[in-house]
Amino acid sequence: MKGVVLAGGLGSRLKPLTKVTNKHLLPVHNQPMIYYPIQTLINAGIDDIMIVTGGNSAGDFLKLLGNGKDFGLKHVNYTYQEGEGGIADALSLVEHFADDKPICVVLGDNIIEGNIQKAAEDYRKQGAGAKILLKKVPDPQRFGVPELDGDRVLQIEEKPENPKSDFAVIGIYFYDSTVFDIIKTLKPSGRGELEITDVNNHYINQGAMTWNELDGWWTDAGTFESLLHATNLVAETGANNLEIKSANS
Ligand code: G1P
Repeated sequence: MKGVVLAGGLGSRLKPLTKVTNKHLLPVHNQPMIYYPIQTLINAGIDDIMIVTGGNSAGDFLKLLGNGKDFGLKHVNYTYQEGEGGIADALSLVEHFADDKPICVVLGDNIIEGNIQKAAEDYRKQGAGAKILLKKVPDPQRFGVPELDGDRVLQIEEKPENPKSDFAVIGIYFYDSTVFDIIKTLKPSGRGELEITDVNNHYINQGAMTWNELDGWWTDAGTFESLLHATNLVAETGANNLEIKSANS
């Protein structure tokens, strides 16, 4: 399985912090935000990784990550998303990289306490279709929210006013290679973006979607409130099952 970190977008909700730099280069406690999703992939045994960047300071990703030596990687792939076409638009850029293999996609501002090894293992066994990860949250209105019937997910609504569950669809997704055909059929949403929720609903309609509940805390970091929350969580407990790194390590 190959890995994709989506780190494009204009980070509008974090202006002026994102006026001259990319959201995913901002600090979360003692590391740049993008370190966390890269580590999430590596901890799941995924080391062939593509970073999709965009917006401001795209060249700084190369300066920061190089060929991934700090993560024990030999190579990192990069591509660039023009404008703010949404998560599914960014994902469409990795079709060539995926090369008909399954992919694990992590949003560059999603940070987890533990790991996704079990979900990755389950998805490898599943062999086709898609898998999402869910986490109970106090504020589902901010996220994609699933309607569940036992083990089945019936549909996902993006930022619903009246959520049908108290789960959020977190920004870690497993897809087979049909994801790129699905993206080609999408139309921009109300916010002018190709939505990952529309991709997921396609898989659900085909009966090809499974879900796991994530263990440990999860947070995004794309607003002032969640960025502070992420920093505090990492400072208090570490992330990705890693001890908090000291300044000298
Ligand atoms: C995106 C997705 C949403 C998901 C969230 C997770 O929201 O659209 O479904 O729950 O990431 O972080 P956005 O950050 O683009 O508002």
